Amino acid sequence: MQWPTSPLMKIGLWSMRMRIERIGDATLYNGDCLEVMAGLEPVDCIVTDAPYRVSSGGFAANLQLEGGFGGWMKDYGNGGDIVECSIEWSDWLPLAFAALKDDKQAYFMSNGKNLKAAWTAAEDAGFDLHTILVWDKRAALPNKYYQNVTEFTLFMRKGKAFTIRNPGSKNLVSLFQKDESPHPTEKPTELMGTYIGNSTWPGETILDPFMGSGTTGVACARMGRKFSGIELDERYFDIACERIAKAYAQGDMFVERPKKVKAAGLFDNDNAPAQAGAAGSVA
Ligand SMILES: C[S@@+](CC[C@H](N)C(=O)[O-])C[C@H]1O[C@@H](n2cnc3c(N)ncnc32)[C@H](O)[C@@H]1O
Repeated sequence: MQWPTSPLMKIGLWSMRMRIERIGDATLYNGDCLEVMAGLEPVDCIVTDAPYRVSSGGFAANLQLEGGFGGWMKDYGNGGDIVECSIEWSDWLPLAFAALKDDKQAYFMSNGKNLKAAWTAAEDAGFDLHTILVWDKRAALPNKYYQNVTEFTLFMRKGKAFTIRNPGSKNLVSLFQKDESPHPTEKPTELMGTYIGNSTWPGETILDPFMGSGTTGVACARMGRKFSGIELDERYFDIACERIAKAYAQGDMFVERPKKVKAAGLFDNDNAPAQAGAAGSVA
């Protein structure tokens, strides 16, 4: 059979053979983001933690660590990839660019070694860099060449810039990973919530093409945002479905405080939400 070129025909075929779950305002696709993204309606923001190759070597198990290990490295070995990684930044970033509306923002997570490749591929795809954000994981991964306690996020835009909703947010966030799933590279819901709260409004749609255990979707459910999530691995897809359904069942966690109405002074910051949760909170 010849594969159709029209996106609509493709969606029709996929829906016959691809698992798609709708949970609350979330639509979850158990498939390859290279296929799914091409058929999606453009979204208001992309927040994602793509798979990338982890270099082997450097791991130093005998080092004494301050702070101990976080759950994020629970399956980490010394030999390369942690999760399925047969995709390059340059394969999917052009599709992500096409899947984002004009004049909107995107967040792409990476470790230090992959940052250059990610940044170059994102700019080649058409994104412009706002800045690089740092997550201080508070628990170091042992390494002979400096213990690794940070991850990075390329904060980018497509088209015109706009001010984030809480301009008081710092470019460094310190957060322990709280394990909510067996996924080896699960990220903190609060971290994804900070990005979502700063770049979107309630009712808008966020895409995560590599949702893993569904952390971005959990933050969206708690913050009154719509979510499109894609995951290739069925085991992680099932976990994402469970976590997002649970977040909706807890329903009352949506916190997007209305602005106080009062005359604003020049240095009046009363309307700014708390730092870690940014505009709206998932905590
Ligand atoms: C770094 S993890 C994301 C973890 C997620 N942030 C969380 O909190 O659970 C990347 C995920 O992308 C998935 N993946 C790899 N290749 C993919 C592809 N082509 N399409 C969709 N998902 C893919 C992997 O199975 C993995 O679960």
